[in-house]
Amino acid sequence: MAKITSAVDAGYRRLLRPALFRIGDGDPEAAHDRMIAILGRVDGRRIPIRRPSDPVRIAGIDFPNRIGLAAGLDKNGTAARAWAAFGFGHVELGTVTARPQPGNPQPRMFRLISSNAIINRMGFNNEGAAALAARLRQWGVSRGDATLGLPLGISIGKNKEVDLADATDNYLAALDAVEPFADYIAINISSPNTPGLRQLADRSFLVDLVTELVRRTVQLSPHNPVPVFVKLSPDHADAAVDEALEVCSAAGVSGIIATNTTLQRDHVSTADAALASQNGGLSGAPLTRRSREVVRHITAHTDLPVIGVGGVMTPDDASAMFDAGASLVQLYTGFIYRGPALIHQIGAATARKDAHAPE
Ligand SMILES: Cc1cc2nc3c(=O)[nH]c(=O)nc-3n(C[C@H](O)[C@H](O)[C@H](O)COP(=O)(O)O)c2cc1C
Repeated sequence: MAKITSAVDAGYRRLLRPALFRIGDGDPEAAHDRMIAILGRVDGRRIPIRRPSDPVRIAGIDFPNRIGLAAGLDKNGTAARAWAAFGFGHVELGTVTARPQPGNPQPRMFRLISSNAIINRMGFNNEGAAALAARLRQWGVSRGDATLGLPLGISIGKNKEVDLADATDNYLAALDAVEPFADYIAINISSPNTPGLRQLADRSFLVDLVTELVRRTVQLSPHNPVPVFVKLSPDHADAAVDEALEVCSAAGVSGIIATNTTLQRDHVSTADAALASQNGGLSGAPLTRRSREVVRHITAHTDLPVIGVGGVMTPDDASAMFDAGASLVQLYTGFIYRGPALIHQIGAATARKDAHAPE
């Protein structure tokens, strides 16, 4: 296993990554779209899964291991059938919105290579919740059935033109569309690229939003309501995080995802100084320490399970995220820079000896 992983690692670093990073004259979004289109043709369910085994039950969901793909990489679920074959233990599709929307003008994604980072201001470009639902329905996916070979989270967000005062209805419409297919729902109130979105973490908006969303999950599936997770920003002060946690616990939220991208530019290499001035959310290595701090703060202040995400670029970063109290970790930028071997390296370094695989 270790030999295959190091061959995959070397192949990605020496061949595939340079080729990917050259696509579209180095345009990261062109490379991303090409990768997703190719993976969309792969039915990974036909490929024998070589997956780190480290099973865990969180919020009533059985995860085969503790490493997931973060939201935003496969927004429309185009490649949803491919992710299990990479070894992931879950995938979070989306963020989708109730209605399709184009997102911000391009260019809107930038690689800060010396910093092992990305800045993006995509703005929830997506085909809409109904399109994702249609795709999953066509593949026969339904909650709990593991059709895709791994638990499926679906992240929902707000359409850009919808006022904050009307946000709850807009999120409810997205929830209604995707609820039958999701093992958990992630409420995204932390993208920095939809004007005002992060204000939804304020008590005045959050109480109504999460209370209504949790209530709707019970109406939709009284015997099997889908667990709701809330994804937070790394840029909130501790007091604001505490307030959001209090609201989430009271409303019956099942877990927290921490964190989304940051508007800060700390820890960016001077070689990337020009790109650092691009507007948008920063992810990758510069975020590692802050995301871990937020996870540590949250796990110290609540019993809710936490999915740790942000700058997990190495097995040590993943270990530190688990040490900070995360129940699961997710990768986005680390997967782009290090490739699929990272999943297996993290698995080898962090699998608990007392966890027994059902497979
Ligand atoms: C290009 C790009 C698009 C993203 N889109 C979303 C999104 O739609 N929804 C979301 O919740 N997070 C989104 N994220 C944030 C990631 O899920 C993750 O929280 C963040 O990038 C930090 O993790 P990382 O350092 O491993 O990338 C996006 C990140 C990137 C780089």
